Amino acid sequence: MSINSRAEFKEMQEISQIVAHILKEMRAFTAVGMSTKEIDAFGGKLLHQFGATSAPMKDYNFPGFTCICVNQEACHGIPKDTTIIKEGDLINIDVSAELNGYYSDNGGSFIVGRDTQNLQPLIDASKEILHAAIARVAHNVQINEVGGFIHNEAQKRGYEVIRNLSGHGVGRKLHEEPHQVCNFNNPQVRGQFKKNMVVALETFISTGATYVHEAADGWTMLPEDGGFVVQHEHTLLVREGKPPIIFTKENGV
Ligand code: CO
Ligand code: CO
Repeated sequence: MSINSRAEFKEMQEISQIVAHILKEMRAFTAVGMSTKEIDAFGGKLLHQFGATSAPMKDYNFPGFTCICVNQEACHGIPKDTTIIKEGDLINIDVSAELNGYYSDNGGSFIVGRDTQNLQPLIDASKEILHAAIARVAHNVQINEVGGFIHNEAQKRGYEVIRNLSGHGVGRKLHEEPHQVCNFNNPQVRGQFKKNMVVALETFISTGATYVHEAADGWTMLPEDGGFVVQHEHTLLVREGKPPIIFTKENGV
């Protein structure tokens, strides 16, 4: 969406603060021995307390309040009571929700307990690259230019980016124009960031995979090479001549 009034700005700010707070709380809640269903139920309870509705449930009938991925799962992981968190697991929680017809989206990958799989460098790279990329987003900047920057920064650190997952416009729906805010310079997608545009920028940085495919459950996306993918995501307001406002900055990503 494009924000055209103070009232719209306030609505986006409110739902963004809610999803950012819930992501932070869910992350702090996560511990060894818990099921991903338990973590999701905690998130669902918080959404209810704020009067917000799970966006993936509302827009896509997703079987969970939030998406929770463990280890090799890249995104859209279904919370399950049979998925039990172990020491050193790589977790991704993505919280997106709607309030009063406005949507915001954020997510982040982290390790539970000791880093037994040596994945902290991948997580640190993803967060650093996301923030460096956000700083480049402004009115009339090519979306591909930021995508190319993310790709280049990932490769400099020995990583790759997933080509068939991307950031997106957000605001009046979970996913709206521009539909592909890619993490590489995609010649098939043209367009510029525009002032007042609301976009979700999300990294999908991998240990080598460039594509993900859908698992048999019809939701979970898995990297083609069985490696790891991490994601960090913020919802932003594009401005002219200065960096965006990060609506979800309280999530700690
Ligand atoms: Co998103
Ligand atoms: Co998200």
